[in-house]
Amino acid sequence: MVTRRWPEEVEQALLGSYDAVLNLHDRPFDPAELQHALETADAVLPTVTDAVTAEVLGGGRLRVRILGNLGVGFSHIDIDAARARGLVVTNTPGVLTDCTADLAMTLILMVARRAGEGERHLRAGEWQGWRPTHLLGTRVTGKVLGLVGFGRIARAVAHRAHFGFGMQIRFYSPSAPEAGLAESLHAVRCDSADQIFGQSDFVSLHCPGGAATRHLVDAGRLALMQPHAFLVNTARGEVVDTAALIEALRAGRIAGAALDVYEGEPAVPEALRALDNVVLLPHLGSATRESRVAMGMRVLENLDDFFGGREPRDRVA
Ligand code: DGY
Repeated sequence: MVTRRWPEEVEQALLGSYDAVLNLHDRPFDPAELQHALETADAVLPTVTDAVTAEVLGGGRLRVRILGNLGVGFSHIDIDAARARGLVVTNTPGVLTDCTADLAMTLILMVARRAGEGERHLRAGEWQGWRPTHLLGTRVTGKVLGLVGFGRIARAVAHRAHFGFGMQIRFYSPSAPEAGLAESLHAVRCDSADQIFGQSDFVSLHCPGGAATRHLVDAGRLALMQPHAFLVNTARGEVVDTAALIEALRAGRIAGAALDVYEGEPAVPEALRALDNVVLLPHLGSATRESRVAMGMRVLENLDDFFGGREPRDRVA
């Protein structure tokens, strides 16, 4: 059971190997539909738009044996509840790293150079022509980029930012990266997330979502940021306390924010949409043809391993 439309070649490949049920209308499943899927299919292939909660997983007799998630993040799945029901869960790491890192750089550049503001201005017919003081932004080259998390995507951002833009990279990660990795990216490890917030010109979030990182960016951490600094989020919406962010932006405590993910998406608070110093994208991190096809094929590979009696390479539960 595939819960959303996937790129056509992946849907065809799924239909070629399995008795696949596609969601031709592409309407997100409600909890009852999700539960029905879990009760009637051997494999359910969810996305970030499916809240696979303990409640949904706690229903009657489940037929499902594997949840093949399309995406690297899986905080929308209650992993403990899935384990308790004896399910295998897989994700799709690696194949979306470069495109998501590209999008993080896009956001850094957009918010620093006021690209969204400029486009809105021009499209509204307000542009009066070049002038020396028009829409002045912030230089990116050489600035300090603080990364929260140092997984694949953070490291790909560090690579682009350092070697492409001469940025100075700091990162915070609870676990030490393998020897030589940070050095190869000229990245300096900080002892705490607080240091990242206090010392960076741009803070970019690359930690997983879920209970452990919920509101990691709260009013306290925002208060540590420098008034000229920007916050960038391509991780998960719940990592940022949106109300605190809006407050910090309104009060000018930070210079701006660039977001691709939201608490309770697709709803985005009007208060956020009303702010000009914010770039807002609709969860586009991995949204390239190349990444989405590769993600789908990776799910297929995980399914083939599972039903072929092999350990799926991307098993997370
Ligand atoms: C991911 O891969 O985690 C994307 O955010 C889509 O879920």
